[in-house]
Amino acid sequence: MKTTVAVIYGGRSGEHEISIRSAKSIMAALDRDRYDVMEYFIDPMGKWAPEPILPEPGAQPEIDVVFPVLHGTFGEDGTVQGLLELADLPYVGAAVLASSVSMDKEMTKRICMERDLPVVEYVVQARHELDPAPIAKGFPFPVFVKPANLGSSVGISKVHTAAELEPAMRLAAEFDRKIIVERAIIGRELECAVLGNDDPVASLPCEILPSKEFYDYEDKYLLDRAQFRLPAELSEEQTAELRRLAVECFRAVGCEGMARVDFLLESATGKLYLNEINTIPGFTSISMYPKMWEHSGLGFAALVDRLIELALERHAARKATRFTR
Ligand SMILES: Nc1ncnc2c1ncn2[C@@H]1O[C@H](COP(=O)(O)OP(=O)(O)O)[C@@H](O)[C@H]1O
Ligand SMILES: [Mg+2]
Repeated sequence: MKTTVAVIYGGRSGEHEISIRSAKSIMAALDRDRYDVMEYFIDPMGKWAPEPILPEPGAQPEIDVVFPVLHGTFGEDGTVQGLLELADLPYVGAAVLASSVSMDKEMTKRICMERDLPVVEYVVQARHELDPAPIAKGFPFPVFVKPANLGSSVGISKVHTAAELEPAMRLAAEFDRKIIVERAIIGRELECAVLGNDDPVASLPCEILPSKEFYDYEDKYLLDRAQFRLPAELSEEQTAELRRLAVECFRAVGCEGMARVDFLLESATGKLYLNEINTIPGFTSISMYPKMWEHSGLGFAALVDRLIELALERHAARKATRFTR
């Protein structure tokens, strides 16, 4: 019997196009002797084709497992995961809470801090009470100003002077009602892929070498000039520490299935900081998440198989949970 995998992709976020590319790579990797593939495409306005997945359990009996390949808002943030929980469908990746926590840069940091995991110093402000004065006083420049919930570096600025602060805060606040300002870490940028449910494992890390002052939207998707080192050139101890932190962060947030955990390594101190965690990382054939696994001995198709297996295992475990007396 074949397993029917429903792939949901596209979506309303700014990462619509990259989601299409990720989904095409995943669908191409699914072995058609073992899997039937159903496509659910969401256009940039949020319209589904051929039809939406319905929230009632049993409404889609033909689907065995769902692979949401939606990056960013309305897909990676727990919203689609909520629909799939209602529908009682197994799905790949983090569940509702871990998805929304991971999307929110403040909540991710708070949870990591509670476990004594290293995060960069930050402050949060609400859109309706933006005030650059205490930030200019409390932080050394440069600082990074970001919308608390988003991705792809959209709305993010690196701010060098007090005069640039307010415009950067206003820009970030266009993209979220909450903004986060943090100390800029001068150093290197590293990523690690994590895979698993109850016993997650970390891949070999990779280093991103942005071609611009930081890894901004252009550098991620338009310029094709950023460089990558895989595996990252780190000491054995640093590699081990980074992998340990990646797994700890994954566990702290309550992720399942997969996540890419991103780090900053401060040159002056040699200290590693957790930057963010992405629960549906880029998944094109050249994306870092599958590349890191490939380098760690797990090829693209085997990785997709494993993610589907993890989704089915998680759903089965959840079935054993009682929801009523
Ligand atoms: N505190 C920081 N110090 C140094 N660089 C940072 C910092 N925060 C973000 N950056 C740079 O900005 C990029 C985007 O920020 P990030 O927090 O990863 O947001 P996104 O979710 O949009 O990817 C990072 O890849 C990195 O290049
Ligand atoms: Mg990032």
